Amino acid sequence: MANDTLTITDNRTGKSYEVPINEGTIRAIDLRKIKVEDTDFGLMTYDPAFTNTASCRSSITFIDGDAGILRYRGYPIEQLAEKASYLEVAYLILHGELPTASQLKEWSFWITNHTMVHENLKTQIDAFHHDAHPMGMLCSSIASLSTFYPDARNIGNEANRLKQIYRLVAKVPTLAAFTYRHTKGYPYVYPDNDLSYSGNFLNMMFKMSELKHSPDPVLERALDVLFILHADHEQNCSTNAMRSVGSSQVDPYSAMAAAIAALYGPLHGGANEQVLRMLAEIGSPAGIPDYIAKVKTGEKKLMGFGHRVYKNYDPRAKLVRDTAYQVFEVKGRNPLLDIALELEKVALHEDYFVSRKLYPNVDFYSGLIYQSMGFPVDMFPVLFAIPRTIGWLAQWNEMVQDSEQKIARPRQIYTGYDSRDYVAIEHRD
Ligand code: CMC
Repeated sequence: MANDTLTITDNRTGKSYEVPINEGTIRAIDLRKIKVEDTDFGLMTYDPAFTNTASCRSSITFIDGDAGILRYRGYPIEQLAEKASYLEVAYLILHGELPTASQLKEWSFWITNHTMVHENLKTQIDAFHHDAHPMGMLCSSIASLSTFYPDARNIGNEANRLKQIYRLVAKVPTLAAFTYRHTKGYPYVYPDNDLSYSGNFLNMMFKMSELKHSPDPVLERALDVLFILHADHEQNCSTNAMRSVGSSQVDPYSAMAAAIAALYGPLHGGANEQVLRMLAEIGSPAGIPDYIAKVKTGEKKLMGFGHRVYKNYDPRAKLVRDTAYQVFEVKGRNPLLDIALELEKVALHEDYFVSRKLYPNVDFYSGLIYQSMGFPVDMFPVLFAIPRTIGWLAQWNEMVQDSEQKIARPRQIYTGYDSRDYVAIEHRD
């Protein structure tokens, strides 16, 4: 369109500038030409927490936060959750297309055949204290993988990148399950290649003395659906960490350790753990008014509510809630569900939440399912990290091939002292 430009008048100088608009954005660097003096640095944008800045172009995940829409590579999340398997979705996220039957077979073969980890990693996990948080153990174990696979540094080679992606998608569930077994003092369970991705994870978590573990098909499918819902979510905090750290051209294991660290925080993937702790603290539906009153005064936060992008019901939250009922049919109703349902009802009618467009997010109901399936609360963020692995890696792989990307290096507005002279210690107040 001929008029796809923005005219900016600088009232300091009266000069006008024209900058192009492409895909609903202007390039921040185009503002640099706006100066008062020729020697000025030029205008910058200030955007703490990136609330209105696109850091990349990406064709992986689409979100319309106002309409509550989430799509991977164009496919609505609802259809994928109903019809696809996690490994099929993982292939889609990485490669951009749903796999054919033979592509899925090959992809599953490679993932299945990279599930073992070096025995030294068991020794490393053994070194952690018995009550170490599983996310801390997972983060360190993934960082360690970079030392086992120094070939991963060759990030410019496509086949090499793909090999590291197979390794990570395959090994994360193994290491995740090992962290749990360590906290329980149980022997580690090796992968069973006859099982599905989710089924094998349940095997490595919960197998006891039986010769072969047979996961309940309803629970296996429920976990697969939860994995699909968590697989990618465009430029969230941990994905931004993956891209930012990866932009230094470090190996993907080191970059992913940073992403896991970001996910661990209570405002991100740690929220599912906090929701369960909050529901336990509320104790019964009778405790809700008191808790809501504390949220309104800013003393507490309603964990599992609110989102930077969704200003409508998070489409994943609805699917998670539906999945919860399927799990409760097998495992019995989680008593905390009644508190969660009532809390949601109350919050959706309270002006505090309505006016701020705060709705349940993916973390609000997922913890209830995980708890009913037998996962301890500490493991919840780990259950987020396993499926998000493919999202992080697909975003990293996209970034590595993007000729516009460089090392991530934001600017700042300096607010400190101007130049001043060193003061000898005997002359300081
Ligand atoms: N409980 C109470 N008030 C809230 C909440 C909440 N959960 N979330 C936002 N607000 C308030 C916030 O205090 C602010 O109020 P005011 O305008 O009066 O200052 C307003 O709503 C806007 O919130 P914000 O903090 O500016 O929004 P943000 O985009 O920076 O934060 C968020 C998004 C997800 C960090 C935040 O909503 C939050 O802390 N939620 C609870 C933690 C949570 O559930 N996180 C999981 C996110 S979804 C999965 C994932 O990405 O990991």
